[in-house]
Amino acid sequence: MKIMTKPVILTGLRANNDLHIGNYFGALLPIIDMAKSHADEYEINLFVPDLHSFTTPIDHSQLQGQIMRNLKLFVAAGLPLDNENIHIYRQSFIPAHSELTWILDCFAYFGELNRMIQFKEKSGIDREKQAKEALARATNDLGQERMDELLQSTVQSKGNDKELLKIILKYIQGLTAEDARGSSVGLFNYPVLMAADILLYGAKYVPVGEDQTQHLEFARDIAERMNNKFGELFVVPEPVKKQHEFFGKDQGLRIKDLQDPSRKMSKSEASDKGIIFLGDNPDEAAKKVMSAATDSVGAVHFDVENQPGISNLLQIHALLAGKPLEEVLQHHEGQTNYGEFKGKVADQVKAFLSDFQTKLESVDEAALMAKLQSSEAQMRDKANATLLEVQKAVGLR
Ligand code: TYM
Repeated sequence: MKIMTKPVILTGLRANNDLHIGNYFGALLPIIDMAKSHADEYEINLFVPDLHSFTTPIDHSQLQGQIMRNLKLFVAAGLPLDNENIHIYRQSFIPAHSELTWILDCFAYFGELNRMIQFKEKSGIDREKQAKEALARATNDLGQERMDELLQSTVQSKGNDKELLKIILKYIQGLTAEDARGSSVGLFNYPVLMAADILLYGAKYVPVGEDQTQHLEFARDIAERMNNKFGELFVVPEPVKKQHEFFGKDQGLRIKDLQDPSRKMSKSEASDKGIIFLGDNPDEAAKKVMSAATDSVGAVHFDVENQPGISNLLQIHALLAGKPLEEVLQHHEGQTNYGEFKGKVADQVKAFLSDFQTKLESVDEAALMAKLQSSEAQMRDKANATLLEVQKAVGLR
């Protein structure tokens, strides 16, 4: 077995749908840049977390095809296949991921997983709806008269405000448990499997988009918890701030949906109008940019709060140009013709996709399969070695 002493950079991209430009710029490109320029200094692991791909519902008849397609996307994005420090694999081909997950499960707390933002979002817990429903249920149980009395004294601040809040909170907690009842245990457990993915290989750097920051923190927490209890079992990934410094960014990336820039661009979204997929027809993608939601301010500024749509386009513009945001801003700041500005970004998107798709067509599938199989054999040994240490530590071996 090859002993790996170099720092490990690792990331995974689910195969629940085609990848979009958020996935590309948030996670794929940072690791591929490292693979192209620094592969000799690091071990680079890029994998498809296929077990994570159905934590939310998918069409399972498409999964196998999507997994293979995503692997090809990695190569089209520039991943070199001829370097022995670079490893590509499918999570489910390395059973140690599932086994370590179970062990970590027994040291993870229900409370900490229940606080994960992604779980709350994806399990459909809607706070506003909950507050209204809680109020309706409380009114039903306590009677309109009592509720009016409580509301009245709250308005008049007679000190009863806390009582009303307590009641509402009690009902909201009931609803949280109820709402989450319909989501899978897999969705709840998702961060533990992700921690196993990271800790099995001793990864120090994990490029992810901003939405995964909390999961990365969890991986650090559980690694430290296990180390405190059982001795130095795991490499603890670097704190998020250091990760950003390492990848030359000041924060995690969050590309927004073009139609609703208050939400992140997400491949589990029902409508694809606001998403630019890497497989989109370039002309259609340009149209998506032209119909992106903007604002009534009427001048280009980077103002995420008040001009989220324009700010998102500026961000996409900078990423596609490979330039710092400030440089792009200098050029467009104050521009009043949104159509012209969007046209520029649309052209860029079109050119990027045309070029990317040409590369995709010329991926050498035989070389990809050969690399995949050799990486998987090697990574299975690496993962099993870590798993064995953990099994010994917890008394299973
Ligand atoms: P996934 O497949 O949902 O997303 C893949 C990567 O893309 C990033 N991302 C974004 N970045 C910027 N803007 C966006 N709109 C945007 N949407 C998604 C995600 O943050 C992610 O980095 N849990 C992971 C997959 C995973 C993983 C791992 C990652 C499983 N195990 C171990 C790292 C290490 C996920 O959500 O992937």
